[in-house]
Amino acid sequence: MSAGQFAVFGHPISHSLSPHIHQAFARQFGLELEYRTIDAAPAAFEAAVRQFFADGGRGANVTLPHKGAAFALAHESSEAARRAGSANVLTALADGRLAAHNTDGDGMVRDITERHSVDLRGHTALLLGAGGAAHGVAWALMDAGVETLTIVNRSPEAADALADAIGEPARAHTRYWEDLPGLGAFDLIVNATSAGVLGKSLELPFAIVGNRALCYDLSYGKAATDFLAWARTAGARYAFDGLGMLVETAADAFELWHGQRPDTDPVYAELRQQYG
Ligand code: ATR
Repeated sequence: MSAGQFAVFGHPISHSLSPHIHQAFARQFGLELEYRTIDAAPAAFEAAVRQFFADGGRGANVTLPHKGAAFALAHESSEAARRAGSANVLTALADGRLAAHNTDGDGMVRDITERHSVDLRGHTALLLGAGGAAHGVAWALMDAGVETLTIVNRSPEAADALADAIGEPARAHTRYWEDLPGLGAFDLIVNATSAGVLGKSLELPFAIVGNRALCYDLSYGKAATDFLAWARTAGARYAFDGLGMLVETAADAFELWHGQRPDTDPVYAELRQQYG
């Protein structure tokens, strides 16, 4: 019997790995499910979501550029979604209403701490960017026990707004992008800008990379190449892309929908072969 209909919404979405990941998880439990991609332009997103759930959809993943809209249209939301102001998971409740959740932050932290075995407690962290992706991971970094979180964004207002929303000024604060060369070295540098996706390189000084530094790009594939090459040249101890995060965030959605926790390692290993 089919475990139901699922989908990932995005624009563009045709290259999404989510259908493959969810089907691989489903095979671990002998589940059959339908999981498709739905390309919806922003103006058509809400209607497409409502149609999908009206037609019996049980759950949806949501990616760029719809995460904010997904959060806004849901009837209830988890704390992670409320803090981020965005959702990457929508789930149909028994009464037909929709619940929003955001698994990005937990997925990233689990990838770093469990897959790569790096304990973030006591790390000085630098978060580059203050858009949707940065909002998705900032609180999880705080919860993972970083000592400080310095948020740097090209437009300082967005960084200030994120730091204000976190509301722990002794630990989370902002600095100007131009001041990066004088900020000293960090233990963790997270690239949450969309520069790589847009085909642009970031101007970053080597001096921000500490001797035990872990540099992490939330994207993967070509979009992460420049930042990771910069990190290795700067002498970072670790340079990771967001492929593991993608698999972990999918696992959280899968568990929410099917009540079973998939083994992410074989799925990650298979995708890693593809993405080098
Ligand atoms: P996403 O959902 O991917 O985070 P977003 O909400 O549009 O997308 O945010 C994009 C982030 O990348 C922003 O922090 C943006 O900085 P600004 O707020 O100054 O626009 C950042 N960004 C995009 N291109 C960049 C570049 N070339 N250099 C530095 N930061 C860049």
